[in-house]
Parts: sequence; structure tokens; C-alpha cells
Amino acid sequence: MSLSVVVLISGSGSNLQALIDQSLEGKLDITIKAVISNKADAFGLERAKKANIPAVFIDHKKFSTREEFDAALQYEIDQHKAELVVLAGFMRILTEGFTRHYDGKMLNIHPSLLPKFKGLNTHQRAIDAGDKEHGVSVHFVTAELDAGAVVLQAVTEIEPSDDAESLSKKVHNLEHKIYPLAIKWFSQKRLAYKSGKVMLDSERLSDTGIRYQQDIH
Ligand code: GRF
Repeated sequence: MSLSVVVLISGSGSNLQALIDQSLEGKLDITIKAVISNKADAFGLERAKKANIPAVFIDHKKFSTREEFDAALQYEIDQHKAELVVLAGFMRILTEGFTRHYDGKMLNIHPSLLPKFKGLNTHQRAIDAGDKEHGVSVHFVTAELDAGAVVLQAVTEIEPSDDAESLSKKVHNLEHKIYPLAIKWFSQKRLAYKSGKVMLDSERLSDTGIRYQQDIH
């Protein structure tokens, strides 16, 4: 049975698009029940509408506390009976109660090789640090920002000519490969999260998860 997914976004939604495309192509057995944004003008909402997916805007500014916003968000997600919550550029710090509610059922994609560069401006920070490699991580979400157990990472070289923009493009290309892949594993019940540990095909993954290569599927 197709996995019911709700995707949370705040912006462009190119990762959302990769999921829509792969499910339309029959490569990913998921049903995106809704796309929820905390920004009214997020382009990802247009992408959802175009694909006939319910597009929901919940304005965080209308709530006086983080807890109240997260409660409204949780209510909306649970209306759709989501089996997996996918954070795809959702620019909000989440409360502990919210993350606990979706323990082992919420994934995020973060543009760095975690545990390096949690938070914002990761591409520039990788360049400024003089790193030779940069990349992206898919991880289960816990209360601590960008600190949940890693499932999958993809690496790109930082070339001397790279700036934050060119690096961001390279990383985005990788994102569109690894996020659908991790979600496919979850939908096939090959991927699970138990007591802080990530299991793939019943084997425990290392702290940095699987390293993506073309032939992994
Ligand atoms: C991506 O860089 C992702 O890693 C980060 O937010 C960005 C979302 O991009 N969490 P898009 O909206 O999917 O294009």
C-alpha cells in the first residue's frame, strides 16, 4: 500500500517537486496527502496545486507561542493520517512535544555533512572553513536542531572556483537524488528508527549513515 506522506515547506519546494515527479513516474510508492507551508508565498504551494495535492497555508505569525503553532500544525498533519512527515525546506524550529509525536516518522534534509554545519548558511560556512568536501544529509528529526540520526549523505567536492551559489546548486542536485531514495526505503519498510538508532535492512547504520553512490537503490 502506498505510504501516506505530508510534506512541510517554507520556500521553493524543489525537493517536493522531486518527490512528486518520482511518484508520478512510479519510482516512489507514496501518496502526498498534503503540502503545508508557514509562508503564504512559498512556491512549493503552487507546485502542490499543479499536482492536485491539497496545499495548506498555516501562518505562524497568528500564534503567540511556538507550542500553539505546532499544535495547529500537528492537528492538520494528523487529519491526513500521515505515516511519514517530510520536512523539505521547512524553516521553523520545532517544539519537543511536536518532534516526540512524530518520533521515527519525520525526516529532514539538511545541506551539510552532519554533524558539521548545523543551522543556516551552510555552503558559505563550508567554503570559509576551507573544506574540500561538502554535501547533504537526510536524518530523522529529534528535538535538537539538525541533530537527529543520519540515514544517508551525499558528498560533492568544493572546487576553488565555487561560491555559495554554485555549491548550493551542486548540493540541490544531490538532494533531489537522496531524499526520494531515503523515502523510498522508508516506504518499503527497509528503513526504521528505534531508540536513536537507524536500521536499514535490519542492520544498524553508522552515525553518518549510508554514503550515496550512483548504484545504491
Ligand atoms: C534545501 O537546501 C534543504 O536542504 C534545506 O532547505 C532547502 C530547501 O530547498 N533544508 P527546496 O525548497 O526544496 O528547493
